[in-house]
Amino acid sequence: TATEKSGSDTVLVDIEDRIAFVTFNRPEKRNAMNPELNIRMAEVLDELEADDRCGVLVLRGAGTSWSAGMDLQQYFRDNDDKPRSATIKSRRQSGGWWQRLTYFEKPTVAMVNGWCFGGAFNPLVACDLAIAANEATFGLSEINWGILPGGNVTRAVAEVMNHRDSLYYIMTGEPFGGEKARDMGLVNESVPLADLETRVRKLCASLLEKNPVTMKAAKDTFKRVRNMPWDVADDYIYAKLEQMLLLDKTRGRDEGLKQFLDDKSYRPGLGAYKL
Ligand code: ACO
Repeated sequence: TATEKSGSDTVLVDIEDRIAFVTFNRPEKRNAMNPELNIRMAEVLDELEADDRCGVLVLRGAGTSWSAGMDLQQYFRDNDDKPRSATIKSRRQSGGWWQRLTYFEKPTVAMVNGWCFGGAFNPLVACDLAIAANEATFGLSEINWGILPGGNVTRAVAEVMNHRDSLYYIMTGEPFGGEKARDMGLVNESVPLADLETRVRKLCASLLEKNPVTMKAAKDTFKRVRNMPWDVADDYIYAKLEQMLLLDKTRGRDEGLKQFLDDKSYRPGLGAYKL
């Protein structure tokens, strides 16, 4: 329609203090993810990965919503009269950036400021960490309109929530708040909405103090080894560790040991060495 945003407006990027705030920006549609938004998100991830001003990525939503999930008009209704190939294309195109986000080069934080439904659980779980507002509302609402959580939402839920909680919310579609999301492990913390940005900025400051090469290796290694047998995991972890030491031109490990053992300028148990 004439009022529809151009693709590039569906995602906003603001970089401040090395934090890239990436904003779902279709507030009039509660930030439902439509094709333009998903295509733009993939581009934004490429751009930010290469942008030295970005040390950490925060994903947030404009207005009252984080994201109301997939755009039910554009991804479902509009494909109904088209050949099956249109649906298949939609599926392939929509999900690509979530996988990219899972293994983004820099740490990622979901800042859940409002509604978070269905397909939005994908980027939520893809982010390394998540902080919600107590006032946010989550839901696996698929059952409420007659489908099951597809696009790997079911798998994403199984990754972070336990068996009973997952089935309860998949089967009832009941909405729940930020504190419940925290209690179930869907997010790390829940704070009043008024404190949300402050808390996220503080978390980002802590992440930015860490060696970025180590950070990338540590988070990817955790995500990958979960599905490996123990002996393979043990070998993979050492392979990643040795790769990381080679990639780290700052020789951070040596510097960290020096600042502790020689300089006695910090204690690793209590905080990071000075970059
Ligand atoms: N897809 C398409 N349009 C949407 C979506 C969506 N997921 N969510 C909201 N919208 C649109 C509405 O159709 C409406 O459009 P209109 O103004 O052109 O009529 C506009 O956004 C505002 O929506 P309201 O319902 O009026 O907003 P309200 O603030 O009262 O409620 C809420 C917000 C609770 C998020 C509600 O819009 C809702 O339930 N949305 C659907 C949530 C959902 O189940 N998402 C799908 C999950 S399953 C999946 O992702 C595959």
